[in-house]
Amino acid sequence: MHRAKIAILGTGYVGTANAVGFAELGYDVIGFDTDARRIAGLRLGIPPYREEGLGEPLARHLRNGRLTFVTDLAAAVEDAAFIIIAVGTPSRPDGSADLSHLDAAVESLRQIATDRPKIVVLRSTVPAGTSDRIAAQLPAHYQLLFCPEFLREGSAVWDFLHPDSTIVGAESDHAAGAYAGLVRSLNAPVMVTGRRDAELIKGGANAFLALKISFANEIANLCGTLNADALNVLQGIGADRRIGEAYLEPGIGFGGPCFEKDVQSLEHVARNSGSPSHLLQATLRVNDAQPRKVVDILEEELGDLRGAHIGVWGLAFKAGTDDLRSSLALRILDDLHARGATATAYDPAIESAELPGRTSIARSAMEAAHADALLVLTEWPEFCDVDPSVLAARLRRRIVVDGRNVLDGERFARCGLRYRGVGRSAVPDSDGAAAVGA
Ligand code: UDX
Repeated sequence: MHRAKIAILGTGYVGTANAVGFAELGYDVIGFDTDARRIAGLRLGIPPYREEGLGEPLARHLRNGRLTFVTDLAAAVEDAAFIIIAVGTPSRPDGSADLSHLDAAVESLRQIATDRPKIVVLRSTVPAGTSDRIAAQLPAHYQLLFCPEFLREGSAVWDFLHPDSTIVGAESDHAAGAYAGLVRSLNAPVMVTGRRDAELIKGGANAFLALKISFANEIANLCGTLNADALNVLQGIGADRRIGEAYLEPGIGFGGPCFEKDVQSLEHVARNSGSPSHLLQATLRVNDAQPRKVVDILEEELGDLRGAHIGVWGLAFKAGTDDLRSSLALRILDDLHARGATATAYDPAIESAELPGRTSIARSAMEAAHADALLVLTEWPEFCDVDPSVLAARLRRRIVVDGRNVLDGERFARCGLRYRGVGRSAVPDSDGAAAVGA
C-alpha cells in the first residue's frame, strides 16, 4: 500500500517534534517554514532549539530520506495526503490569541489548492470556534481536523511517541478514521469529538495543569507562613490518586510560551462569552505574584536589596530547554533591579541574552556565585551536584534562596550556608537547628 505523505507547516517546537515523530512512525514527512535560515539549518540536521532526543532522529531521517525541509509551500503539500498546521498562536496584549500566522497559512493553502482532496490537521492551540471558522475558508474537498498536542519542551519527541491519548476533533467520520489510522502504532486510546470540544479539551487541560501549579504555590506560601513544610504537605495531598502528584511542585510560578498564553486565551474566551472564569483569573493572579515571593524572601534575609549583588542560577523557564519565552527568571531580574540590586546569572543552556537590569552572564555556576547571596530559578540537575563548602567560600553573606526547592538545605546548612526554599522553614532556623520543616 502507498505510504501516506505528511506535510507540516511550521517548524517551531510543535512542528519539528511532529515532523520527527511522524518520520519515526515510518512516514515520509516534508517540513515547511517561511524562515529560510531555519529550514537551511534543519536540512543540515541542526535542531532549531535545544531538545534532548531531537538531534539523533532528525539526522537519521534526513539521511534515510524520510524527512525533507522546504520553503516552497506548493512543493510541500503537492503529494501530501495530510497537511499538519503547527504555526505559532501567541498572545495579544488583551490576552486573546493572535491568529495572524494561522490565517496567513490558511490563505496560502487556499491559493495553491489543487483539486486533490486533503486532510488538514490543525495542531496549533487555538480558541474554541477557530477550527470551524478555518474549515469554512478551506476548499470544499479539504477536510479539517483539530488534533491537540500535549508536548512538553525538553521531551517533545518522546511525548509525541508516548501520548496518554489521541484526541481527534472532527466533523467527518472519514477524516477522523484516517487520522486515527495514521497514529495507530502509537497504541494510545483515540477519542473522537467535535472540533470545538477538542479545542476546549486542549485549553482546559493546560488551564487545569496551570491551576494545579497555582494551587501548589498558594499552599506553599501558606506553609511558609505557618512554619509547615510545603514539600511534605503537597506530597501528601498528591498521594491521593484522585488528585495525583503531577504539577504540584511549588516554586517561582509557571513560565514558558504555553501555560500563561493558553490560560489568558481561555479566560478571554470565557469573559467574551458572558461566563467569566474566576478560577482562571485567580490562576493567573497567583502566578503573577509568585515571582515576587522569592525576591521578598531574599530581601527578608539581606535586610535591604539596595547595593546587593545577587548570583542567579537558571534563566530558562524550566530545565532541559534554552527557552526564555515568558521565563519568570526575567521578571525576577527586573524586580531585583527595581529593588536596587545587581545580578550575575548562569544557565547551562544560555550563553548570551539581553537580560533586564544589565544582568551579566557568567560561564559557570561558581563564577555567578561571587555575590552576596544566591537565587536558584531553574531546576537544572547540575546545581544539585555543587559542593556547598566551595559555594560557602564564595558567597559573601552565605544566603541561598532556592526558588525551585531542588537543593538539599540541610547539607547546605552543614557547610555554614543559610538555606531558604519556597514554603519551607529556613535552615538553620533562628535557634540554629538544622531540620527542614517540622
Ligand atoms: C506545557 C504542557 O505541559 C504541554 O502539555 C503543552 O503542550 C505545552 O505547555 P511546557 O510549557 O513545555 O508544556 O512545560 P511544562 O513542563 O508543562 O512546565 C510549564 C511551567 O510550569 C514551567 O515553568 C515549569 O517549571 C512549571 N511547573 C511545572 C511548576 O512550576 N510546577 C510543576 O509542578 C510543574
